[in-house]
Amino acid sequence: MTTKNWNTDSWREFPIKQQPVYKDLEHLKNVERTLASFPPLASASEIRALKGELADAAFGKAFLLQGGDCAESFAEFNEKNLRDFFRVMLQMTMALMYGAGRPVVKVGRIAGQFSKPRSDNMEKIGDTELPSYRGDMVNSMEFEEQGRQADPDRLLRAYYQGSATLNFLRTLARGGYASLKQINRWNMEFINSSSQGKRFEELVARINECLDFIQACRLPLDDVEEFAEASFFTSHEALLLGYESALTRFDPFDEKWYACAAHMLWIGDRTRSPDEAHVEFLRGVANPIGCKVGPSSTVDGLLKVIDTLNPENEPGRLTLISRMGAGKVGDLLPPLVRAVKDAGKTVVWACDPMHGNTIKSPNGYKTRKFTDILAEVRNFFEVHKAEGTVAGGVHFEMTGQDVTECLGGAQAISELNLSDRYHTHCDPRLNASQSLELAFLIAETIKKQKGR
Ligand code: PEP
Ligand code: CO
Repeated sequence: MTTKNWNTDSWREFPIKQQPVYKDLEHLKNVERTLASFPPLASASEIRALKGELADAAFGKAFLLQGGDCAESFAEFNEKNLRDFFRVMLQMTMALMYGAGRPVVKVGRIAGQFSKPRSDNMEKIGDTELPSYRGDMVNSMEFEEQGRQADPDRLLRAYYQGSATLNFLRTLARGGYASLKQINRWNMEFINSSSQGKRFEELVARINECLDFIQACRLPLDDVEEFAEASFFTSHEALLLGYESALTRFDPFDEKWYACAAHMLWIGDRTRSPDEAHVEFLRGVANPIGCKVGPSSTVDGLLKVIDTLNPENEPGRLTLISRMGAGKVGDLLPPLVRAVKDAGKTVVWACDPMHGNTIKSPNGYKTRKFTDILAEVRNFFEVHKAEGTVAGGVHFEMTGQDVTECLGGAQAISELNLSDRYHTHCDPRLNASQSLELAFLIAETIKKQKGR
């Protein structure tokens, strides 16, 4: 079944925002042709599995944890970074599962999160003006004439890095590392470097007691897939539609099109207009779709996007990622949540507490306060409690590394610390310790709301 008046290139007839300017369009076309001949990264059956998990999250039977770099980078592609990221995602998962008593749907902003929307097309330093950095899959971060030109070959590099990343993550998820029996190991290096390590150690002790109990009941722990493996999915912002459409494949099994560059794709706050190219492309693929919902969202606009992207009201298809800011979410979110509920639409409501809370520190760093991030999540939960709807998940910019990009947390990172290890290619990320701390605090919030 194909979507009406849609094909993998129909988006090209629509107005489009946030695109790089390529000088050599023939070169771009050749690269897109090459990508179209390459194997897909994600499979349709994996994508359907994620949709099933997200359907559970929509009904409050699971909880979505989506996280990763604001922008992945070519330079920081290495085994350690990937392993550390995966480990902190699993640790957060354990904290959330234990607190919320629900399965956690794990989705990385990874293996394709290489392109960025920007507020300005050009960047000026002194007298020199160059195109803005738009992510490693477009141009280079260095402020330098040649590097800032959009280069189509970077799409190929993103594909190769994405596929190697996904391959390694699959190995970790399926190859024993994610087994609950390994849980003690995850903490070994982490514990020394993180104030959250102790807390995780206590959690591990409790989980181990549960596992011992299950074994004492003669339940076959080793045979249960869920104890031995983790399901892990990838996602990125579908910004460069030439890349996405080149990797879109038809699945004869259910006769639907799947965007196979990732399991889940989202539309950014700047490209979510229902009459434009990004919504047009995504309405025709059967993946789970995220849509950022920022302060300028209106009830009518949101309902139109929902109808366009999910006309069948299929559970798990649409995740609305609210990113209002800690101080605004309490006022701006309720009318939207209410309207979606009154219209009978099934969505996952997730909270991105990062993008509405970006500030500039006096010493010039783009940063975010841990307290604002936590406050936005807590306010988001309050809104859903008051409206009788489901707070279905969270969406973080985070890394497994010990960076100093966000302020506060138990490590008490201060403005003076920001310059120590500020490595992000775009927005400031929670470091490993802050990420886990946040997961523990969210788990507590959920527990309290449930009255446990
Ligand atoms: C992002 O997720 O990195 C991003 C750019 O978000 P938003 O579209 O919400 O600004
Ligand atoms: Co960002």
